[in-house]
Amino acid sequence: MENLTVAQKFKTLFGTEPVSIVRSPGRINLIGEHIDYNDGFVLPASINKEIILAISPNTTDDTCNLYAFDFDSSFTFQLSQLDKTNLGWPNYIMGVVDELQKAGYQLKAFNCVFGGNIPTGAGLSSSAAVECGVAFGLNEIFKLGLSKLDIVQISKKAENHFVGVNCGIMDQFASTFGKANHVIKLDCKSLEYQYFPFQIDGYDVVLCDTGVKHSLGDSEYNTRRKECDAAIALLKSKYETIKSYRDVTPEQIQTVASELPAKTIDRANFVIAEIKRVGDATELLTSNDIVGFGQLMYQTHDGLSKLYEVSCEELDFLKDLAFESGLVTGSRMMGGGFGGCTINLIKKENTKSFIEKAESAYQSKFQRALKTYVVAIKDGTSLV
Ligand code: GLA
Repeated sequence: MENLTVAQKFKTLFGTEPVSIVRSPGRINLIGEHIDYNDGFVLPASINKEIILAISPNTTDDTCNLYAFDFDSSFTFQLSQLDKTNLGWPNYIMGVVDELQKAGYQLKAFNCVFGGNIPTGAGLSSSAAVECGVAFGLNEIFKLGLSKLDIVQISKKAENHFVGVNCGIMDQFASTFGKANHVIKLDCKSLEYQYFPFQIDGYDVVLCDTGVKHSLGDSEYNTRRKECDAAIALLKSKYETIKSYRDVTPEQIQTVASELPAKTIDRANFVIAEIKRVGDATELLTSNDIVGFGQLMYQTHDGLSKLYEVSCEELDFLKDLAFESGLVTGSRMMGGGFGGCTINLIKKENTKSFIEKAESAYQSKFQRALKTYVVAIKDGTSLV
């Protein structure tokens, strides 16, 4: 998406240049899946797939006018009347407006055009990119005085309350705090973070997009959270030393196994294993042991698929293909699951052969084209 295209559309629709143009990126996550809402650590980065958003106060009347370039779709609403719509995309914007107003920020009507190249439903957090871009843009045009962390928290709450997905903080954090050529090690409990240089010489990060998004994703996501909350509540009530999943041992989980459904026990076992893996993975990254790092990615996939049960046939197929090809150092499903992408660490000399192999195998197995993206890590949400 060209910045110009969005700005031109804005001018065509509203007759003026936009006051602000914002770019807001999607994200990858190297490792640490489904543990942002379980007090774990994650390792995301913002990427070269982004939305561009042109925004201005509406000085003529009190209507908010929105236009989504990629869907060629318009929507209008009043600040005093925010109702969820079946159209989908306006909810991310109204959700941000709603949270800002609830927090006491004084907004006025605005006009907004946005579009971009983050594939939707691919697990790259196009929704977080829109939310953070809108919060950033409103902050600019109405001088709200929001910090970066405010933008993250408002955007996350928009997703939790208005959109209705009880997500953790990773996506919005990565979109807003991303830094070119770095991954963020985010402590999802304290929100402390550290940037790690990510220029692993000789490797590509390749996303394989299944092109599917199974519809049970959002409801299963909320169910996983409830299962994890139930297990940790019970563990806390039994052991004074346990403040969060970080303090839990496999033996302690075993002691509550008879009091919870077997699947809930599996979820808890995945969570503590994944928290440990992220710790190990960051050490391997620091010592440049990419092969070791890749092995942990494969382990994460197996946990997500078998214990956490958020994978699907297409994702398992791509991960198995990566493993069996011998061409891919690490591969796993990424993000919420039930479709979307696998993330693959591949030696540059193997990238082309693996992509060709995966495209052809995926087509024969699912009669569907596989899209692949070689990713670059870029800065987080910013003015253009
Ligand atoms: C989605 C959510 C995130 C995170 C991931 C899984 O992307 O929005 O908060 O939980 O799933 O790691």
